[in-house]
Amino acid sequence: MPPGVRRLSFLVLWTACTLVFAQAAEAGNGGLLPPTPHSPNAHRITDAYIFVLVFTGIIFVLVEGALVLFAVRYRRRRGARTAEGPQIHGATRLEIIWTVVPVLILAAIGTFVFWKLPGISGPPSASAANETNITVEGRQFYWMFHYPNGAISIGTMVAPANQVVHEAVISSDDDVNHSWWVPNLGGKVDAIPGKTNHTWFKGAPGTYIARCAELCGVQHAVMTAHVQVVPRAAYDRFIAARKANASGSALGQEEFDYVCSNCHRLDSRYIGPALRRNPLLHDRKGIETMLRKGVGRMPAVGSDWTDAQIDALIAYTNTLRKRGSQR
Ligand code: CUA
Repeated sequence: MPPGVRRLSFLVLWTACTLVFAQAAEAGNGGLLPPTPHSPNAHRITDAYIFVLVFTGIIFVLVEGALVLFAVRYRRRRGARTAEGPQIHGATRLEIIWTVVPVLILAAIGTFVFWKLPGISGPPSASAANETNITVEGRQFYWMFHYPNGAISIGTMVAPANQVVHEAVISSDDDVNHSWWVPNLGGKVDAIPGKTNHTWFKGAPGTYIARCAELCGVQHAVMTAHVQVVPRAAYDRFIAARKANASGSALGQEEFDYVCSNCHRLDSRYIGPALRRNPLLHDRKGIETMLRKGVGRMPAVGSDWTDAQIDALIAYTNTLRKRGSQR
């Protein structure tokens, strides 16, 4: 091998190894497995992942091992560059083996996945008392949650533990495609304008990170949320309190932290201009027009908000006037 080629292949190998190991180190679980599942559907996804990983892992080691072995063992040594190796035609037994074995592997993977699939897509049967429906709405660039009693939260979904939670995943008509993904609680589900997709989970208590898994615009990367799985009583308390105080600054703060702050800072320019000195921040009518219609590059982030939601934002931004610079 000429020295230039040797140096280049070493560099490529080094870069590839670094990338692989850096990713594994960052993931913490060796980088080989999905995050720990906390819902039955997520468990089944992980099972299917491991099942496929075993086969692909073995095949990878065999193929790459043979490749390296052959490259070293049968490399051209001192022969002429134009010299051809021995020509071999046909090896019936070998050809049957390399056809039949992959067919069997594919059949095994297919059978396993189809066996697991119903428990991934469909929820276990539960009595009505043990079920909840929450609508998940994706918008540029935040997640909004609608609860059965009409309560709303933004950025943080609160859900009852150990009960089936049905999620209707939507995106508003004037928005774009997003994808709702809580890796600990199941797979990705697209949020598409004009269409309602369904998924579910039955979560263990805890707080789980959710993210948007569909490139949806300039702030796609910050379109995250949390799912807080809490005892049923705490969930009931939360949605009752939200409903009772639909225009309160608790919702207003969520709106500011998860909607406004994804593109704005108070005192410096971010994606959009700084907010603190903007008189619109405290002007009910002005802020409503901006949220409902958008302005310039800013999307109409609040086109489907209720009046109470806009009041909630004003209630919160009014508290910012009294405080010093924190953001
Ligand atoms: Cu929403 Cu990416």
